[in-house]
Amino acid sequence: MAMEKLPPKGYEYNKVLSMMEQYGKNDANWKQGKTFSLVYHRDDAHTKFLQKAFELYFDENALNPMAFKSLKRFESEVVKMTANMLHAGPEACGTMTSGGTESCLLAVKTYRDMARSARPWIKKPEMIVPESIHVAFEKGAEYFDVKIIRAPLDKDFKVDVNAVKKLINRNTILIIGSAPCYPYGIIDPIDELGTIALSKKIPLHVDACLGGFLLPFVEKSGYDIPPFDFRVNGVTSMSADVHKYGFSAKGASVIVYRSIDYLRHQFFIYENWPGGVFVSPALLGTRPGGTIAAAWAAMVAQGEAGYMKNAKIIMDTSRKIQQGIESIKGMEIVGKPESSVFAYRSVEPDVNTFAIGDILEKKGWHVDRLQRPDALHAMITPIHAKVTQRFINDVKEAFTIVRKNPKLAYEGGAAMYAMISHIPMRKMIRKNILKMMEGMYGPEGEIPDLSMEEGSSEDFAMKAGKWYLKLKDTFRK
Ligand SMILES: Cc1ncc(COP(=O)(O)O)c(C=O)c1O
Repeated sequence: MAMEKLPPKGYEYNKVLSMMEQYGKNDANWKQGKTFSLVYHRDDAHTKFLQKAFELYFDENALNPMAFKSLKRFESEVVKMTANMLHAGPEACGTMTSGGTESCLLAVKTYRDMARSARPWIKKPEMIVPESIHVAFEKGAEYFDVKIIRAPLDKDFKVDVNAVKKLINRNTILIIGSAPCYPYGIIDPIDELGTIALSKKIPLHVDACLGGFLLPFVEKSGYDIPPFDFRVNGVTSMSADVHKYGFSAKGASVIVYRSIDYLRHQFFIYENWPGGVFVSPALLGTRPGGTIAAAWAAMVAQGEAGYMKNAKIIMDTSRKIQQGIESIKGMEIVGKPESSVFAYRSVEPDVNTFAIGDILEKKGWHVDRLQRPDALHAMITPIHAKVTQRFINDVKEAFTIVRKNPKLAYEGGAAMYAMISHIPMRKMIRKNILKMMEGMYGPEGEIPDLSMEEGSSEDFAMKAGKWYLKLKDTFRK
């Protein structure tokens, strides 16, 4: 029964909780290791501990650090511990944010405002990013009116440093690299970007939302990790998510700057508000105390040894799965990922990667699809250590099924994703997605049926299949 109006009389707490449990029954099954994104779970005991830490500061609000000095202390210490982990030096400072996206948005806002103050003649600020940069920076460009200039990747899926150099002009206010990028788990040549940034006197932000709480420990475990943090001269700031590989509760990331000279431009101050002088260090107004407290608790409870132990499990599992996939003749890992995140795909022309994805979905795996190149995506967490072999076997089986039935490429999800990634009419994709969003968030509040079954109420997939069949020769090019 859908709740469209407040129930005249409230329900019993227990009844509400059991309804909620019921509603989650068909959600993605992360508890069995079936998802490869969205949830970073260490173990049940750790989650229970985080819940307690969160609960201790459930009601408190970090909007006013004077009122809740405990939260300010947690935040400062989380920032300090993160800065040290990333070798940010004695002048480092920063803030916590609600997540990776907020940290990325803030980087754009900070450097835009810094340029406004130091280089006021720039009317149309530009930032140079790798093609593989997280989409949060596209959002930041749109929100803060900074032109985004995408530098191509080289054959190893790292940003082409020479291209970056050529793209710099008088309007460039920021260069960004990833450590690693979301699509392929590959680290950009941060040291070379650092050299360029220094020589051109342009700030360099490293988006380590994914790797910030993993790479330092992978490196310490002896893996060959290229320079990615503040040890590279020229890096002026980094984003690192505690709610990803820091294994904290969702809603926690950190943005660290090399010095207050940068951070100062992040703050918002309005002294004339009738509600009082208003100061805000980051994007949000009210800032939940629970997420800040849980982030501190997660870091202090795991310590270096805890993160090292986890990094080993994660990397071993990731390597095993990557090797398993590469042992399938006709499949490959995209590039050479240094971390636990990777993309994989079929390189056999008649075995469609997205069709492999569809079969994996039918087997209960929740897999993300990439474009340019068409690939499937995996972000490994400790939970996958329990399902390593099963997953490899299922990928093998899916590959064999698609090889025997190449037509699967033109059906259901495979057709839809192929169309989305290849159709030259990008505006049409945008229009369709906007329509879907309007349906989801408009008054109907409908959840689209993407089950790809024939006759499903949202038969976008079927239509896509037909288009795809019609245009498949174009797509193949
Ligand atoms: C490299 C990178 N940056 C930024 C983000 C955005 O983080 P969030 O989803 O926490 O907003 C992600 C998310 O996966 C990411 O992988």
